[in-house]
Amino acid sequence: MKHFIDIADLERHDLESLLDEADGFVEILERPIPKVPALRGKTVTTAFFEPSTRTRLSFERAAKALSADTMTFAPGTSSLSKGESLKDTVQTLEAMGSDLLVVRHRAVGAARRVSEWTSVPVVNGGDGAHQHPTQALLDALTIRRRFGKVEGLHVAIVGDIRHSRVARSDVLAFSALGARVTLVAPRTLLPVVTDGWPVAVCASLDEVLGEVDVVYLLRVQMERGGATVFPSLPEYVSRFGMTRQRFAALRPEAIVMHPGPMNRGVEIANEVADDPRALVLEQVAMGVAVRMAVLFRLLGGELDE
Ligand code: NCD
Repeated sequence: MKHFIDIADLERHDLESLLDEADGFVEILERPIPKVPALRGKTVTTAFFEPSTRTRLSFERAAKALSADTMTFAPGTSSLSKGESLKDTVQTLEAMGSDLLVVRHRAVGAARRVSEWTSVPVVNGGDGAHQHPTQALLDALTIRRRFGKVEGLHVAIVGDIRHSRVARSDVLAFSALGARVTLVAPRTLLPVVTDGWPVAVCASLDEVLGEVDVVYLLRVQMERGGATVFPSLPEYVSRFGMTRQRFAALRPEAIVMHPGPMNRGVEIANEVADDPRALVLEQVAMGVAVRMAVLFRLLGGELDE
């Protein structure tokens, strides 16, 4: 594995071996000194051209837990405003000694393109509405640790699927690992074409509540035009929101997930977001471990404990 760009590039056994590796890093992160020297001397650079809280910090935390150094490229204060191209920017980051680049960009295919311009490994931290592969890994790890498996579980992905790179990555990862996936959304928030996706589609959340093991909620992506395709937010909440009433209709062992950032009161009610069966913060914690696994794999680190 040279880069980590698209879940579609991975086979089931690749996903499983990354998850196994991540399980080991969870154990390391629980130690009193949650740090190993595996990537000492390496420099991981994050270059996020779109806003991020979790993903960027999580990569930095993961790099540091492996004893790598980190550099953060901040587009807002950079020479991009002087017209420097993405290609020149990337090559500058490499020339400065980056051993790996984590890239987030609003353009679909950006990370792949960047990987053609640099000789160092590239990790996709999100490219437009296309892919967010480390999110899919952390979601799969969260599910696997909770249920002991992914195979055979029924996962409903609910909400703004059309604009969601998380959904596109999760569908591929969950189904590759043997889960059954149902997309639940108004037609206007479904992708234009879902032919060939390994999923069922359902227009009613109430219909699937009693059958699913995992309800995966997505944010309505206002910045990508999400809010313009249904009549009003109250209308969205009444049909697709995870309200207290809907939460009560779930099977007792079922869990709720969300990649963050949450719009409380829209796709998820306050009380649900704060319930112990909502694993939102567990997902964040697992994010560090899976990113350690990805960095470790791409930078060929050695665990010498
Ligand atoms: C998401 C993203 O940016 O793709 N967040 C994340 O990385 N955890 C989802 C979103 O913005 O809704």
